[in-house]
Amino acid sequence: MGSPADGPGAREAALTDEVLASFAATPSPRLKELLEGLVGHLHAFAREVRLTEGEWARAIEFLTRAGQISDERRQELILLSDVLGLSMLTIGISAPRDPRATEPTVFGPFFVHDAPLIEFGGDVAQGAPGEPCWVEGVVADTAGTPIPHAEIEVWEADEDGLYDVQYDDGRTAGRARLRAGEDGRYGFWSVKPAPYPIPHDGPVGELMAAAGRSPMRPAHIHFMVAAPGYHTLVTHVFSASSAHLDDDAVFGVKQSLVREFEPMESGPGRGGRRWQLRFDIALARAVGGCGP
Ligand code: BEZ
Ligand code: FE
Repeated sequence: MGSPADGPGAREAALTDEVLASFAATPSPRLKELLEGLVGHLHAFAREVRLTEGEWARAIEFLTRAGQISDERRQELILLSDVLGLSMLTIGISAPRDPRATEPTVFGPFFVHDAPLIEFGGDVAQGAPGEPCWVEGVVADTAGTPIPHAEIEVWEADEDGLYDVQYDDGRTAGRARLRAGEDGRYGFWSVKPAPYPIPHDGPVGELMAAAGRSPMRPAHIHFMVAAPGYHTLVTHVFSASSAHLDDDAVFGVKQSLVREFEPMESGPGRGGRRWQLRFDIALARAVGGCGP
């Protein structure tokens, strides 16, 4: 314990040491590491910025409101993690090390279980407004060998930048489950996605506004791809012509995930524009997994 004569720096350091010591007997070594790291960094942060009691109270009030606005459909604390870049940092830390594997990115709040199952060539849009877009590719391992029958989930915003769950009419549109073929191929019709804002009518939106940051994300289609023996991939394909590739609100863009949506001469639609996109996917072997 420091005495007042030691000065504020020594008193603060003594407090940090005392709190660290209180966790010294934590039975789980990993939990002990996490708690000690958290205390060390939190204390260092407060000391470095000379955190005032008023700022501390404001932060507590912010986190309280973020919790209060959250429910099973809205998770404001994950959104906070997203806009602070913590989600992408953690995803990167956990990602397979094989550089040939398709890179992962954020999961986001708009995934829904039990989306409709569609066949090869089926329609993911299901009435979602937008210009028709054919999406195809092959799911393979990192050596390029196709993986048969991978399970694929896709979900996306429509041309107005809205996911089906953001409408209050209960529609299911712009999402589906598919299975790749024996040859690893998948293909579906959907619509060309549009940029859209992350939910910004809550505390995280206030934070973004206070920081002068845009809530927008560039146009993308979400993919979740799973196959036995492989690391499940959660990713997006981004449109190369989209706005906000350089200022994605959640830092999810990776250059390796950006593709051109090419104009298409024939396909469904009432004479408007149609698009096509190729997105091949490489899955890394699960650690300790031996494949199918
Ligand atoms: C999304 O792409 O759906 C998303 C990701 C993170 C935060 C908000 C939305
Ligand atoms: Fe999204």
